Amino acid sequence: MEGPTRRASEVVVAADPVGLAHAAAERFADIAEEAVARDGRFTVALAGGSTPKGLYSVLATEPYRSRVPWREALVFWGDERCVPPDHADSNYQTATETLLRHVPIPAAQIHRMRGEDPDPDRAAADYEWLLRLTFQRESRLLPRFDLVLLGMGADGHTVSLFPGSPALRESARLVVAPYVARLQTHRLTLTLPVLNGARSIFFLVSGEEKARMLKTVLEAVGRSHEIPSQMIFPSRGTITWFVDSAAAHLLARREASLP
Ligand code: 6PG
Repeated sequence: MEGPTRRASEVVVAADPVGLAHAAAERFADIAEEAVARDGRFTVALAGGSTPKGLYSVLATEPYRSRVPWREALVFWGDERCVPPDHADSNYQTATETLLRHVPIPAAQIHRMRGEDPDPDRAAADYEWLLRLTFQRESRLLPRFDLVLLGMGADGHTVSLFPGSPALRESARLVVAPYVARLQTHRLTLTLPVLNGARSIFFLVSGEEKARMLKTVLEAVGRSHEIPSQMIFPSRGTITWFVDSAAAHLLARREASLP
């Protein structure tokens, strides 16, 4: 896939997961304030998994509970597991318990993916319709999130785009429901065109088990279609990697610019 020009990225190395969460929370608040001042709203796609929980907990407390313009926020998800919204594995459930139930965001502005739908393709199509409706006021064909939060697996996957997935070649649809063989389940996920259309992308990466992949993604020359996280590079936006020292210990330099 001939992608857009890759933008420089910034790598913020925190001493530990708590420091990572606070560094990301400060930037999250900055972006939210800028978006509302510019557009009157703040559109964000939340990440799943465990690493973002620290960020969500910090955002749910002061000063961010008061500082972030939650009433003007529109919340989406980058991906979702095919489980009910009250399931322990639900990304919606995780974000609700750690953040959304603690901040004054109108329920009508929280847009979860319907992981409980027995037809994942229908759930993906429904979410795509919602995205197009939400972002239709912009002339562009693609939604342009103010902020997309991402995690990264040790295999380089991000959202539910796994190495070798046909979903990595999707160039038209905004949301798909790939079958993930290693998990023996479908997942719902945004596609690369949507992710790469964002103004700002945060990768949140913590732990020694991510160190080798992080080095590969940040420092390898070129990019492999086998490493989804290497295929994230916003055409007109920036990536900020918030990593802790355990994940960063193999990096050659603290500031990395993608080639
Ligand atoms: C998910 C996420 C997934 C996650 C990575 C890293 O639904 O699980 O979308 O891509 O970000 O697996 O997960 P951790 O942060 O738990 O390591």
